[in-house]
Amino acid sequence: MSLILGIESSCDDLAAALVRDGTQVLASVVQNQDDVHAPFGGVVPELASRDHVRHVYGTVERCLREAGVSMDAVDGIGVTGGPGLIGSLLVGLCFAKALSYQTGKPLLGVHHIEGHLASARLGDEPLDLPYVGFVVSGGHTALYHVETLSRIELLGQTRDDAAGEAFDKIAKRMGLPYPGGREIDLLAREGRGDAFDFPRPMLRQGFEFSFSGLKTAVALEVARQEREHGTPLPRAVQADVAASFQEAAIDVLFDKARRALAATGQRRLAVVGGLAANSRLRERMAGLPPPVEVRFPPVALCTDNAAMIAAVADRMLADGQTASLDLEAFSRVPLPSTLAER
Ligand code: KG4
Ligand code: ZN
Repeated sequence: MSLILGIESSCDDLAAALVRDGTQVLASVVQNQDDVHAPFGGVVPELASRDHVRHVYGTVERCLREAGVSMDAVDGIGVTGGPGLIGSLLVGLCFAKALSYQTGKPLLGVHHIEGHLASARLGDEPLDLPYVGFVVSGGHTALYHVETLSRIELLGQTRDDAAGEAFDKIAKRMGLPYPGGREIDLLAREGRGDAFDFPRPMLRQGFEFSFSGLKTAVALEVARQEREHGTPLPRAVQADVAASFQEAAIDVLFDKARRALAATGQRRLAVVGGLAANSRLRERMAGLPPPVEVRFPPVALCTDNAAMIAAVADRMLADGQTASLDLEAFSRVPLPSTLAER
């Protein structure tokens, strides 16, 4: 039996969670900053870290209170060491170090993407290993072969924009509320996915992705439609653009996932990260024919959270991969990671 406190602050969410045995979430608290960044239509790094400073103590405290647990019962403190915005990372990291210093509990430095990959193992029915892990988020689009939580192989990733970034930028271009990914999802339900024939970049080619060309094609179409209909576009046209863009992006994601399963010989697929909350992506991936088993974490554990960080820390503690109080934050760090040894 182990109990891990997870702390995550790599971008614009500050999160704390308590997880038992790497799977059972006792509490997961996420302090989101959408109101802080909404006026700018995107994350402003300095504002993100300042807001983290304001909320880090309260968020951890609330998590312990919600779980009805005191620090005495905690076996280890897992914290995101990278990748992410450096100022944001430093807030969670320094807080975790201070807590580790004060309580004597071991510190575990966790790779954020490893956290997303492990999120499929949270809950009552953790996905069995091995599996293909597909990280589709605002910062990352990458396919991994997850043999065990400590043996993870990168199959391919995006050469430019992440899929979620394309969703957010297109939403912003159409003047939709921030954060845009969820708005595209909602709007697309009113539109036709075949209204516009957008490109499917790198379809049927390896395991790499590219979303910048698709993003540009959609932006050009939006400009064309604005010349015809005025700005902002009528809702019906926005919906057709959203649905057609979403269909093009998901066609690519679906194709790569299917081929990654075939190439690795795996039949389990975990779709994780913020975009795994997308209703159309869930519908399409769930349509992969048996014996493929597709798993999406609950929506609250798709976007950034600390339960996934605690899940990885639990495995690291068991493997003796504790970090020293000299652990640094890394804006970029490859996976498989060496955070534990740094
Ligand atoms: O995993 P996450 O919280 O942050 C990163 O680590 O990058 O993912 C956030 C991303 C944003 O791009 C957001 O727009 C997108 O996930 N997102 C969605 C949906 N919910 C969140 N995109 C499409 N449809 C959704 N329902
Ligand atoms: Zn993330």
